[in-house]
Amino acid sequence: MAAITLYNVVMKEYKIPVTPTTTTGSASTNGLRATLHIDPGTVRADLDRRIFGSFVEHMGRCVYTGIYEPDHPTADRDGFRGDVGDLVRELGPTVLRYPGGNFVSSYRWEDGIGPQQDRPTRLDLAWRGIEPNQVGIDEFVPWARSVGAEPMMAVNLGTRGVHEAIDVLEYSNHPSGTQLSDLRAANGSKEPHDVLMWCLGNELDGPWQMGQKTAEEYGRLAAETAKAMRVVDPRIELVAVGSSNSQMPTFGAWERTTLEHTYDQVDYISLHAYYEELDGDRGSFLASAVDMDSFIDGVVSTADHVGATRRSKRKLRLSFDEWNVWYQQRFVGQNQLEWQFARPLIEDRYTAVDAVVVGSLLISLIEHADRVAIACQAQLVNVIAPILTEPGGAAWRQTVFHPFALAARHARGQVVGVGVGSPRYDTALYGDVPLLQATATQDPGSGETCVLAVNRSQTDALAVTVDLSGLGPVELLEHLLLAAEDGTTVNTAQAPDAVAPRVGTAPQRAEGTLEVLLPPVSFSVLRLRPVVS
Ligand code: AHR
Repeated sequence: MAAITLYNVVMKEYKIPVTPTTTTGSASTNGLRATLHIDPGTVRADLDRRIFGSFVEHMGRCVYTGIYEPDHPTADRDGFRGDVGDLVRELGPTVLRYPGGNFVSSYRWEDGIGPQQDRPTRLDLAWRGIEPNQVGIDEFVPWARSVGAEPMMAVNLGTRGVHEAIDVLEYSNHPSGTQLSDLRAANGSKEPHDVLMWCLGNELDGPWQMGQKTAEEYGRLAAETAKAMRVVDPRIELVAVGSSNSQMPTFGAWERTTLEHTYDQVDYISLHAYYEELDGDRGSFLASAVDMDSFIDGVVSTADHVGATRRSKRKLRLSFDEWNVWYQQRFVGQNQLEWQFARPLIEDRYTAVDAVVVGSLLISLIEHADRVAIACQAQLVNVIAPILTEPGGAAWRQTVFHPFALAARHARGQVVGVGVGSPRYDTALYGDVPLLQATATQDPGSGETCVLAVNRSQTDALAVTVDLSGLGPVELLEHLLLAAEDGTTVNTAQAPDAVAPRVGTAPQRAEGTLEVLLPPVSFSVLRLRPVVS
């Protein structure tokens, strides 16, 4: 089926192929009905656009033969792939976290500056990579901005400490007149990079991390690093490392101790979570956002507890700076790897089911916009990524590209109240879960309302009555959806649009309501705009 081009350039070029189908496949509703009430009078939070961030780690082929490949036919004069850059602009990440990840915990930032031919080749202890340091801060920051994203840098608090953190900050942000800022200018970046978001290390609670620490050790180091970094540049925002995931034995206690040391020095605490379908339990997998919800709620409670003990008026916000679907059970583990440059590493191929789960996780993040300020889907290219590349060859969108691109483009402004009335189903991991999950945003500028919705039913379409009465006169601009008609198709270089968004079934209108049909295992975007009389 031919692909059509969807609403061209408004902000960035955006050419998601939409299959012009108007059916919902063969699934019937079997009487399944749900209701969705949108209440724009209840503003839950301003949606921080940084919630649509992504992550570039020196790992596998994310950097080399991912974003950067000087010999590629589309490479620009700095060696970055033009075809990948175009796809990143379509995807629309607002933030790019860099350079790791586990990689950063044994990284020496100064290896990545100066003439490229003089840079050392090193062992990357995190992923057993051979790291040639051809991309470093002076290459990455301008590239990130060229694709429309703000860089978010991590400092090494694994094998390094305060000194190296203030050095890289001075190199990056100090205008001039010091050895390091003048070195930056001599290396070709006269203007400061002005990187304003900094992560104080990565996953330092994890035994796999180079330089693992106890919460006490990390809390002290992070507090002292933060203090010194703020002297170098008071404009910066800092992220303290939270638990590597909610299953860590120290979850909760780690956040409490770390924040007891850092509460007044940091702006955010980090969360990381990866989900996969385990033992064929698709019902639980589709409900992964329930786990994300409670993870966020747990960290908020812990942070607020620490805040309360300090009589603080400030509420800490969250940086969910690694999240995605990742089939970790298929990964052999870093200990089994041979030393190698740019080896394919955890290049998961995603199905439409995975894309629906990604859409569902995005809904969870948006629903927590009152506390989640930053979030990064991990990672951007090749490594558990929305974009895949062949060295010297094609670049294409994985299925999970689409929910991210649609949400990043259309969910804007303020998160408004939604009331969901939905049938429920039983899951092995999370108990009783609603089939319908939804969130809504409203853009005060355009007046456009965007509803994101997931139908978790594996068998039945869901007939949803959307109550529009609170919105005034509106019309449905479009209903785009991704549905998992089969759970196995993946996008490939030969069939890059095998799984792509399509147009939803024509909705039925009644007075103040809209009847939409959500196919089984589907992610939908409904765009409603005011009717100007
Ligand atoms: O994104 C892959 C890895 O997952 C990151 O390096 C690490 O921070 C996390 O464990």
